[in-house]
Amino acid sequence: MAKALGKPLTFFFLILLWETTAAAAIVASDGDNKNFSVGRLFWATAKDGSDLLVKAEGEDSTSAAAAATASADEHDEFEGGFSSLDGMLQWAIGHSDPRKLKEKAHDVQRLSANELEKRQLEIKELMEKLKMPSDPELMQIAIADLSNSSISLADRHRALHELLILVEPIDNANDLNKLGGLVAVIRELNNSEPEIRTTSAWILGKASQNNPVVQKQILELGALSKLMKMVKSSFTEEAIKALYAVSAVIRNNFDGQELFYAEAGHVMLQEIMSNSRTDVRLRRKCIFLVADLVECQLQSTKKAEVPFFSNHLFLKSVVDLTASTDLDLQEKTLMAIRSLLQLTTTEALVFKNFCDLGGALERMRKQLEELMAEEFQREYARDLESLRREVEFIFHRKLEKATLVPT
Ligand SMILES: *[C@@H]1O[C@H](CO)[C@@H](O)[C@H](O)[C@H]1NC(C)=O
Ligand SMILES: *[C@@H]1O[C@H](CO)[C@@H](O)[C@H](O)[C@H]1NC(C)=O
Ligand SMILES: *[C@@H]1O[C@H](CO)[C@@H](O)[C@H](O)[C@H]1NC(C)=O
Repeated sequence: MAKALGKPLTFFFLILLWETTAAAAIVASDGDNKNFSVGRLFWATAKDGSDLLVKAEGEDSTSAAAAATASADEHDEFEGGFSSLDGMLQWAIGHSDPRKLKEKAHDVQRLSANELEKRQLEIKELMEKLKMPSDPELMQIAIADLSNSSISLADRHRALHELLILVEPIDNANDLNKLGGLVAVIRELNNSEPEIRTTSAWILGKASQNNPVVQKQILELGALSKLMKMVKSSFTEEAIKALYAVSAVIRNNFDGQELFYAEAGHVMLQEIMSNSRTDVRLRRKCIFLVADLVECQLQSTKKAEVPFFSNHLFLKSVVDLTASTDLDLQEKTLMAIRSLLQLTTTEALVFKNFCDLGGALERMRKQLEELMAEEFQREYARDLESLRREVEFIFHRKLEKATLVPT
């Protein structure tokens, strides 16, 4: 089956689809059928039309997904490929004779609702005939591969990269555990290959991002402490993806945060912040997590404040990050300081005397003033300066309050 559905047949399928129903589907796509699912992964390499694959049962046709991830990054939405029938049809339009298409589109406007519906059913039947697997089926295949100890390293990579794409939609992320995917991916955190461990951490981060269900499952499977150990990896990418996953698993999740503190997560964060040799991407993620955790504290009325946040050395390592030349890091640091200043357990005089926050803010002011004189970064520097002023304002207010209280 897989072999039979190579390029020519697929192309034929698209043309056929167009000839019979495409115009109808386009008209209908303004309606309620937007989510008509076509195994989206397997159109993924079709960007240039040169490598179109249809997925069918079998192992040799899953490389499209792997290829599609080559450029994926955790910040990037996955682009390319057809996320819907609509997208596929747009592609078909681009590769068809415009005159003919126009005629068809014209014809279709005369179709009744019933006829349109009938054509949609035809498309659906066609696709069922071609046996395009659903996302859960694709996940099942990847998970089965991961659980097969005799597959090659390359196949293991490929299976993980497929999962990385597949877990992006929340419905798929929610299915992952049910299909045994979390257990399989967590097992790979133990793999001897750093790249395999890295991608596995990445998947866990992606699946749990803004997803309390998956967060809970990962916590219950006990993967947090393993991920935290990976943050200390000497492989930079592994450390970065692991910290990404840790952040995603504990974000707005009190159980996760409790476990994180119990495993000395705050100490880990301080170590990263105070080590100037650490990769700047890791430090950015780190200070972002600090800001997030403190913000979570501020929002919550129920939870007691984490004592560590008022630790002098911890605060100093945060303030010291303002000396970085990386503007992104500076911005995140200012955000963290703004939140830390608002905690009732932190002391204004510690910020002033021990951390020299006043001096840090003044140095930053000068630096931003210079940047604002340059055309190139003016806007960003201005935004940063306004954030810096806000921090300064909160700091001075806290100082005033502190000196009013008799000691
Ligand atoms: C697709 O849309 C229908 C309504 O048109 C909805 O009931 C269904 O849940 C949607 N499916 C997905 C996967 O979003
Ligand atoms: C495991 O992988 C090997 C090598 O690819 C394959 O021959 C075998 O059929 C697979 N086993 C299962 C249970 O899928
Ligand atoms: C990973 O390895 C450690 C120690 O070798 C072991 O205790 C743990 O159970 C393993 N985890 C998984 C998920 O296989």
